[in-house]
Amino acid sequence: MDRTALEDGARKILLTNLRQGVADWNGQEYSFVCPSLTGYPFQWFWDSCFHAIALLHLDQDQAKAELRTLMSGALPNGFMPHIIFWEMEKQPDFLNRNIVGQAGDPHYSSTMQPPIIAYAVERVHRATGDKAFRDAALPVLVNFYRWLRNTRDPDNDGLIAVIQPEEAGTDCSPKYDEALGLTELSNQGFIAALRKIYEAYEPLRGDDQTILAADLFHFEDVLVNSIYALGMRSLARLLAEYGDSAGAEEFNREAGRTRDALLTKCWDEETGAFFDLSGVAEEPVRVVTISSLMPLILDDLPRPYVERLVNDWVTSPDHFWTPYPLPSVPASDSKFRPGNSGGFIWRGPSWVNTNWFLSHALRGHGYPELADEIVAKSHECIEKSGFREYYHPYTAEGLGARDFGWSTLILDM
Ligand code: GLC
Repeated sequence: MDRTALEDGARKILLTNLRQGVADWNGQEYSFVCPSLTGYPFQWFWDSCFHAIALLHLDQDQAKAELRTLMSGALPNGFMPHIIFWEMEKQPDFLNRNIVGQAGDPHYSSTMQPPIIAYAVERVHRATGDKAFRDAALPVLVNFYRWLRNTRDPDNDGLIAVIQPEEAGTDCSPKYDEALGLTELSNQGFIAALRKIYEAYEPLRGDDQTILAADLFHFEDVLVNSIYALGMRSLARLLAEYGDSAGAEEFNREAGRTRDALLTKCWDEETGAFFDLSGVAEEPVRVVTISSLMPLILDDLPRPYVERLVNDWVTSPDHFWTPYPLPSVPASDSKFRPGNSGGFIWRGPSWVNTNWFLSHALRGHGYPELADEIVAKSHECIEKSGFREYYHPYTAEGLGARDFGWSTLILDM
């Protein structure tokens, strides 16, 4: 597929999945791309950021509209929900309806997702040069990243915690099995475990401190924290340009603290990879998954860590270097399931968003051939199987939702 054909395909999906209107519940105009019309008809936080980045290659005004719509869901305390149910009538029995209502409003979920928004705003600002867009975004971003720090880092070590697996965007990853007490390894088993957590949180709704202290599910997740640090670097650059040097200093300092905490608390020298910390007691979760590689997205990750990750894990055919890399779980893991997951996702197949992150990261760390190979293989998956949610890491078979929004990130690779 040449560039034009790829762009045509991506444009078709982004246009088809585009939802526009005025919400009857808050009178606000919305304009965003939903991940997939069939499975995911609402606005998801990190999907929207990916959509905006892909849209930069097709329609820059729509890229701005996407992020403006997302930011319009920010609450006064800074929190940004992982789903905004703009058109709730689309699927009134949606699973996440259980966790709606941080502010008592059923149109928001009360959980977060990997905080990539400052990076997305920076990309849109760089591409468009639109200062008004940046200036309107800055207060929302500052509030959100401060909310994360003040609310989600109770031990003040620079690492924020997620309170349920969907907050990390890698829902059913095997790294959560033990903490969830999963007995039945299936999507049904996962949903049952998730419901239990939601129910236990119900009486604590709105009380973030107690929720975190309750220690029901408390993960200092490596993927989330890598993206948190990346986002804070973007925010610091945007603030510096705006002329707020104190703000820039604040977020650069925090990004450095998060990186340092990843190195000192999550790195496992013997394994040569990063592990999440589970519970208030911060037990390392000794399961390697795609998130164990994610600190590569930090351009200040020291060289020895980069080399261990690349040599021992990324390029190893036993682990992540499958014919269509990079699988969400290394092929060597006993729980690796490369094929159709029946909704039990993030347990083997390759995803375009993590390939997008890691191809850019590897290029930045001086591995252009590896980056090119990941891009070429991702492209091949799309050529063979269309824009799907995820792909079989041995055959490139397309799996999960069809016409899936963030696979258009290929345009940015
Ligand atoms: C699944 C994914 C999550 C994504 C959502 C919408 O829940 O795990 O990362 O944001 O679908 O695409």
